Amino acid sequence: MATYKRLPVTFVRGEGAWLWDTAGKRYLDAISGIAVCGLGHAHPAVREALCDQAGTLIHTSNLYRIDAQESLGKALTRISWMDRVFFANSGAEANEAAIKLARLYGHQRGIDQPAILVTESSFHGRTLAALSATGNRKVQAGFEPLVQGFVRVPYDDLDAVETAAANRPDLVALLVEPIQGEGGVNVPADDYLPRLRSICDHYGWLLMLDEIQTGMGRTGRMFAYEPAGIRPDVMTLAKGLGNGVPIGACLARGAAAGVLGPGTHGSTFGGNPLACRAAAAVLDTLARDHLVSQAASMGNYLLDGLRRELRDVDGVSAIRGRGLMLGIELDRPCGELVTQALAAGLLINVTAERVIRLLPPLILNPSEADLLLARLAPLVRGFLARAVGP
Ligand SMILES: Cc1ncc(COP(=O)(O)O)c(C=O)c1O
Repeated sequence: MATYKRLPVTFVRGEGAWLWDTAGKRYLDAISGIAVCGLGHAHPAVREALCDQAGTLIHTSNLYRIDAQESLGKALTRISWMDRVFFANSGAEANEAAIKLARLYGHQRGIDQPAILVTESSFHGRTLAALSATGNRKVQAGFEPLVQGFVRVPYDDLDAVETAAANRPDLVALLVEPIQGEGGVNVPADDYLPRLRSICDHYGWLLMLDEIQTGMGRTGRMFAYEPAGIRPDVMTLAKGLGNGVPIGACLARGAAAGVLGPGTHGSTFGGNPLACRAAAAVLDTLARDHLVSQAASMGNYLLDGLRRELRDVDGVSAIRGRGLMLGIELDRPCGELVTQALAAGLLINVTAERVIRLLPPLILNPSEADLLLARLAPLVRGFLARAVGP
């Protein structure tokens, strides 16, 4: 179905931070399949895990115990300090699990119609509950009636959360991205997550962090919430977890970990041996090659470079981000830059109409970072010099 507006290019091969199209032209990938291929393309550890598992056992069913799922579950809960995990196949599905968990938690506390606090300009996925939680009318338009039970407040606005808390005794959880991705790489104030944690503790809400885009080292920490010194009750992952093999996860801690019991949720494919082996290879490689700290230093290097090249350029409103999740906000819509970058052999993305988003693989090396800057900065300067003002 025509659900995607695709760029006129087909990639046939990848290696590290590079992709080749059908004509043999080479592109520097600064988007990683939208924050998915953190280890880059054709990583040997993922290939070996997949080939080995495909030759042994791809799928049985969650009717039975699954070794690869149990060991991935242990590894994931260990690095995240969470207690339990439910495996799904995508980000939206991981969020569906979190939403169901929150509702059940509410019912268990005697609230008949539990509600979840969500934020404006958020993105949580395209399934009906996830798009209802999403703070973007374009994602919802035409799909009414939306799923009920979401209360929306502006992002990075603690007063609005307090007001909602005072007025809505039906609230049981808060679902939020630690840094908004699709919404424009929006980094909240340093006290946002710690204060949300306190509010959740005060009202008995679950703090549910959507780390689907920010997780798995993307922001220079394994999970973006870590610098805030807090822990969520529920966290969702997908994207970088499988380096391109579809897998999602909903992790929970403390009381939240015991909410979903046998028969309350499930998935045919979720946590199958093939996907779990890929994710285990990702976790091993992130640790073995110190890729999370590499993402932090390469992210700082890129951020400094972008500021050096673009800070004083008229039309650049902000340059922000953490690790290798970076945004350059312009004062006007700039979607056409994606095609111009493509022609220049660089893959970038524009989100929220005017934010150039960079999500290069965590394995990006300094010379590739230099090349990224050398290809992108003149394009942005040229675009702003040519384009009519806002
Ligand atoms: C923060 C966040 N949550 C959820 C999703 C949905 O993930 P998926 O497309 O795997 O369903 C995305 C995808 O962009 C995302 O960025």
